[in-house]
Amino acid sequence: MFTIDVNGVDHTVNVAEDKPLLWVLREDLKLTGTKFGCGQALCGACTVHLDGQPTRSCVLPIAAVGQRRIETIEAMAADAIGQQVQRAWQEMNIPQCGYCQSGQIMAATALLTEIPSPNDRDIDEAMSGNLCRCGTYARIRRAIHQIADDQR
Ligand code: FES
Ligand code: FES
Repeated sequence: MFTIDVNGVDHTVNVAEDKPLLWVLREDLKLTGTKFGCGQALCGACTVHLDGQPTRSCVLPIAAVGQRRIETIEAMAADAIGQQVQRAWQEMNIPQCGYCQSGQIMAATALLTEIPSPNDRDIDEAMSGNLCRCGTYARIRRAIHQIADDQR
């Protein structure tokens, strides 16, 4: 039995200690916005925030979460920066198939929270672990710059 803080609410789940956080979120808590891609910490589709840090939930056993605060894409509408990112993603028409985009939005939100005006290098570093089969990288980079400009 584990109690985890997800999007500001405590949830108690009765699962094996090695169950990855991704599957606790999707199967036990029905938070299906976080996606499964590779299952090996290679693609970023499963990115959530753990105490604000982008984290691959597909390789994180539930037993390793502890008291850390988990935030998923479902909480981004209530996050000041997450909201801006989602708005820019809509206005600039970033997603193509959309599959990777919740992970991209989580990574971009964490970046802009830490570095309000990131340069290209900051963006590449922060976003390089999030793969997009549709190739939306250039648009994502433009959107991140646009959000930073709007904040100035
Ligand atoms: S599903 Fe977790 S990194 Fe690919
Ligand atoms: S938008 Fe299709 S994989 Fe990224």
